[in-house]
Amino acid sequence: MESENVTNVNSLPRIGDDAPQFEANTTHGSIKLEDYTGNWLVLFSHPADFTPVCTTEFVAFQNIYPQLRKLNTELLGLSVDSLPAHIAWVRNIQEKSGVKIEFPVIADLTRDVAMKYGMIHPNESSTETNRAVFVIDDKQVIRGIIYYPLNVGRNMDEILRLVTALQTADEHKVSLPADWNPGDKVVVPPPATQQLAEERVNDEEVEVTDWYLSKKALK
Ligand code: BEZ
Repeated sequence: MESENVTNVNSLPRIGDDAPQFEANTTHGSIKLEDYTGNWLVLFSHPADFTPVCTTEFVAFQNIYPQLRKLNTELLGLSVDSLPAHIAWVRNIQEKSGVKIEFPVIADLTRDVAMKYGMIHPNESSTETNRAVFVIDDKQVIRGIIYYPLNVGRNMDEILRLVTALQTADEHKVSLPADWNPGDKVVVPPPATQQLAEERVNDEEVEVTDWYLSKKALK
């Protein structure tokens, strides 16, 4: 089958870009992206209401919502379903699982937000948004993007880890190694000169693997 080429990938938002602005109808009324200025935001899309994997994800997103809020981070869902469908679905989730969905969900019937954020991947589905996650910082800059396919639910620990890692990197001017979790050692920026590299290998304050890879514990 020939691929459909309807998305201009050059116009899709990327890490470091200003997040595309929007105003949208949600289960909590009209919301503008700029309303979140000063908060971090996890903006995520799901394929469709009343579908099994999405239902498990909504419960899981709600379960991490209190932890995200402790990180000054809000949650905002999105699909191209209608507002009545969203309302009926979140009510059904509460009835069947006892979990009240407390974050707003955009009813993007016009696909305006989905197209701005590249949430529809037409060769996977031309009618549904995929499982996209955009981490947007308190200055409305896109800091992280995750895409998952329709048939695999996302890992909430990784979303929490990503937000925590980005905020830790900002606060301490460090980087975070593979599989980092809070409490683990962080990566110290590599030295920029030969002289500093010589000093780094003898630095007893940090755990040195080699001049370009050193770690330290955060105090
Ligand atoms: C699901 O949530 O189960 C689902 C939604 C769309 C396509 C495939 C699976």
